[in-house]
Amino acid sequence: MSLTLIANWKLHGSKSFSRDWLNSFNDSYQGSSLSSIGIAPPSIFIDDLTKHIDNPGISIGSQNVDHFPSGARTGEISADMVADAGGQFSLAGHSERRIFFQETNADIALKLDLISESSLIPILCIGESIDEKDQNKTEIILEQQIIESLSAGSKLQNLIIAYEPVWAIGSGSSAAPEEINSIHKLIKDIVQSRFSALDLQGVIYGGSVNIENAFPILEEEEVDGALIGGASLNGEEFAKIANIFNELKEL
Ligand code: 13P
Repeated sequence: MSLTLIANWKLHGSKSFSRDWLNSFNDSYQGSSLSSIGIAPPSIFIDDLTKHIDNPGISIGSQNVDHFPSGARTGEISADMVADAGGQFSLAGHSERRIFFQETNADIALKLDLISESSLIPILCIGESIDEKDQNKTEIILEQQIIESLSAGSKLQNLIIAYEPVWAIGSGSSAAPEEINSIHKLIKDIVQSRFSALDLQGVIYGGSVNIENAFPILEEEEVDGALIGGASLNGEEFAKIANIFNELKEL
């Protein structure tokens, strides 16, 4: 099964936080399978987390990898290193990486290739800014992000795209469910028409998903899951969102 609900812990966590999180998650999670759930902790905790998760269990992955496989790149982590530490997926192109670390679509294309070559599941994050939305440029921006990031797309296996409108991330208010649904459909159509050989596993939504709004968002037909930041730091809330998802999609 492909990943559907992913916790992005961003710059939060510790080894003791991971233990507490897993305990609260396990206390509240009602599903029978964990294989569609992922956690992207800060990379330094990947190794520790993989050792504390039952197998087959939750997948652990990274929030980012470098766009070079190795070299004089102080402070960076490669896709191979994530795989070696037991990681199973990696995000690429999160808007916080694009904004704070000036990542370009060309960098992201290189990252996706390396992630895939390391046998990790690649998760491409895309999304428009508030200015782009206000100027009715959402479609053109998403198309550009997809086309430029998937330039070597035919080689990618098991790709997941996360639609995360920048203006919804951390704002406390998500995009409207119908709007998310139609944008997910648009993303699938773009991939289908431009990269028909590509194995797109699903389009998941991120941006202020929480226990209150999870149901209406996840029940939309084209929403294949969610990438969750703030609300994922609480193991109980994340488990409850996963329960809603499992019920809706009858997993
Ligand atoms: P929030 O859920 O905190 O809005 O973050 C979303 C996100 O950026 C996940 O990658």
